[in-house]
Amino acid sequence: MPGKGNIAIDGPAGAGKSTVAKLVAEKLGYIYIDTGAMYRAITWKALVNKISVEDEIRMARLAQNTVIDFYVDIQTKKQLIFCDGQDVTEEIRSPEVSKLVSHVAKIPGVRLVLLKQQQLLATKNNVVMDGRDIGSNVLPNAPFKFFLTASVEERARRRFLELSNKGYKISQADVVTEIIERDKIDQERSVAPLVKTSDAIEIDTSFLKPVEVVNKIISIINRISESKTN
Ligand code: CDP
Repeated sequence: MPGKGNIAIDGPAGAGKSTVAKLVAEKLGYIYIDTGAMYRAITWKALVNKISVEDEIRMARLAQNTVIDFYVDIQTKKQLIFCDGQDVTEEIRSPEVSKLVSHVAKIPGVRLVLLKQQQLLATKNNVVMDGRDIGSNVLPNAPFKFFLTASVEERARRRFLELSNKGYKISQADVVTEIIERDKIDQERSVAPLVKTSDAIEIDTSFLKPVEVVNKIISIINRISESKTN
């Protein structure tokens, strides 16, 4: 199906990327690709296999030998992520994985493997892809780039609610610490750090409902598309 072109959504933890990206994809009939889930799946596998995330060579090899698939549950519309054929949708959101994932994501060999997979997915489908380096590195030629932000307090509040609803016993203070730490590692790493590219449109979601952010993104996409055809 011909589309308007790929959509890149970047931003820090808890800015609302995945909720919004999923809804935008649904509205436009695009495929949603959660690249953070791919880094999380590799992290989960390292934990299960007791591989130290400090061991960059083993971690890169692990990434090469891992098959990650996305499926959508037709009934619930929930996106499922499979790692080597196993459904790890819930496991990859655990606090243990969250604590380690940014350490895994700074390993160049891991990034290279996932970068290639992400680019391949985007050549086969019209995608809404969210992450940290989509506009800057994975899809630098995407015609639509967005950078979502929100205050640290609001981002931590959202993440705390999400985890509490799933039954995890964590404190809001721990969530704040984890988010700040993860942002720092993501921004300071040498390969493909979290940045807002000059052509990305920034949206502060602190005071917006997901549907408001979605409508904003769709109207910007329509405006840009119209100005290109005129
Ligand atoms: O959902 P949340 O914002 O907590 O994070 P995520 O999107 O699941 O991503 C988890 C981690 O993966 C991030 O903190 C980054 O360290 C890493 N990541 C990355 O480096 N590049 C991407 N394109 C996506 C995620």
